[in-house]
Formats: sequence, structure tokens, C-alpha cells
Amino acid sequence: MSPDGRIALVTGAGRGIGRAIAVKLSAEGLRVAMTARSAHELEATAAMCAGPTLTVPADITEATSTEAIFGVVEQAWGAVEVLVANAGAGFASRIERTSDGDWQRMLDLNLTAPFRCVRRAVPAMRRSRFGRIVVIASNAARIGEPYIAAYAASKHGVLGLVRSAAAELAADGVTVNAVCPGYVDTSMTDHTVDSIVAASGRSAEQARAELARKQPINRLITPDEVAEAVWFCVLSGGMSGQGITVDGGAVQA
Ligand SMILES: NC(=O)c1ccc[n+]([C@@H]2O[C@H](COP(=O)([O-])OP(=O)(O)OC[C@H]3O[C@@H](n4cnc5c(N)ncnc54)[C@H](OP(=O)(O)O)[C@@H]3O)[C@@H](O)[C@H]2O)c1
Repeated sequence: MSPDGRIALVTGAGRGIGRAIAVKLSAEGLRVAMTARSAHELEATAAMCAGPTLTVPADITEATSTEAIFGVVEQAWGAVEVLVANAGAGFASRIERTSDGDWQRMLDLNLTAPFRCVRRAVPAMRRSRFGRIVVIASNAARIGEPYIAAYAASKHGVLGLVRSAAAELAADGVTVNAVCPGYVDTSMTDHTVDSIVAASGRSAEQARAELARKQPINRLITPDEVAEAVWFCVLSGGMSGQGITVDGGAVQA
């Protein structure tokens, strides 16, 4: 595809992986609309972008926000051609201490919000017979680990959404893929480090080294490495329904 001027929407673009994706897509010539709750973080991301940007602050878990976000992009530029559903968060707890509210928060943010974005993006993509949808899942979409039942369930679920949507849209020129990172050097992993310190009494350095060792390359994944995989998904018209692991070789899928 020729990327120049294509219209992208990146959710959760205020920091971390979403910021790296927005900067990468902009550097490759796309117009990049971005959303997250924090307006000032979005502005900081936009300032790092090379081309036209649109910042749309919103809470993606609110039922009306999907329509509002897509409406702003369509009014300014036109229909979204490249959707990157990245906004998400983690949660760690023993199963018996996971409340209904904890469970629902994970599903709302990591599963229902991407579903609503995909559902909203698809009609225009079908009409134009072109679209790229990339969901940032996790290697927790492929394997379970202790203490992350709600997070892993939401990420396994979103991989099911990706695979089903890919099958449904294959003949329409729309590809749907997931990128499944291991532990990435972002504020989300900083929170995980804090939780390990609080629960185990280990030092922050020990906790971070422990998370680094989860990747056979013995370090955290960088946000740019995830953004490169997203870009690969955007470029390829022949790859769909895949979960691309970017985890230093931990999950050999
Ligand atoms: N970090 C990792 O190790 C890792 C590993 C595998 C997968 N992932 C996945 O990668 C994605 C990005 O993670 P990250 O590490 O970059 O996290 P992060 O640094 O915490 O960034 C998350 C982004 O999502 C936005 N967001 C969170 N809740 C939102 C809501 N309700 N409405 C709108 N935006 C919201 C945040 O902005 P606001 O808070 O301002 O809304 C922020 O821009 C997530 O889906 C995560 O599950 C991360």
C-alpha cells in the first residue's frame, strides 16, 4: 500500500507503546489521529510526530466515546483506514481476590473497547475495499500465567476477535492482526515492578531484572520494537488473522 496521507487512528497514544506507534506511522507518511484520556500526554505525542495529527481526548471505555472519536476524525479528514487498538492496562491478583469489578474493568478496556472500535471502523473499510486493523494484545493472549486471569482472559478474547474479524473481512481488502508483546519498557511495566516490590519485598532492580528474564533475550522489549511489528502488519496485504509475538522468543507460536 502507499502509506502517504492514509488516515490512521491509534488508541492509547499518550505514552508507551501507543506513542511509539503514532510516531512511527507519522514518520511513514500517514495522518495520525490519536486518543487517550490525558490531553497533555496526547499533545506531547503529537509534538513528536512528523506529519499531520489530530488529538481526541476520550475515555475509550465509555459507550458513546467510540462514535464521538470516529466522528471527529471523519469530519476532519475522512474515514479511518488504519486502526490500531492499543489502549489497555494490566491487573494482577490471585483469582480468589479478583472482584467482579476488577474482572469487568479488564474486559471493558482490553476487549469491549477494541471490539467497538473494530465494529465502527469496518463499514467504511468494506466500502473502500481497503483497511488495516491491528490490535495490541499480549503474549498473555497465548499463554496463562499466575495472578493475571482477568488480564489473560481479556487478551485471549481479543485474539479471538482478531481471528474472527480477519476471516470475515478477508475478501474485502481488510486485514486484521494482533501484535502480542512480552514485557515492554513502559509505565505499565513500571506498575508491575511496583506490585512485585509491594507483594514480595524484593527491590525494584530485582523485580525489573526478573521481568527482563521472562524474555529469552534477557531484556525488556522496547516500544519501538512493537511499533515496527505494527508497521509490518500495516504494510502487508497478504497477512491476516495472525498474532505476532514480540517477546524475545518466549512464546514460539
Ligand atoms: N507494557 C507491557 O509490558 C505490555 C505487554 C503486552 C501488552 N501490552 C499492551 O500494550 C498496550 C499499551 O500498553 P503500554 O505498556 O503502552 O501502557 P501505558 O504506558 O500504560 O499506556 C497505555 C495508554 O492507554 C491509554 N488508556 C488507558 N486506559 C484508557 C481508557 N480508559 N481510555 C482511553 N485510553 C486509555 C493511556 O492513556 P490515559 O491513561 O491517559 O487514558 C495510555 O495512553 C496495552 O493494551 C497493553 O495491554 C503491554
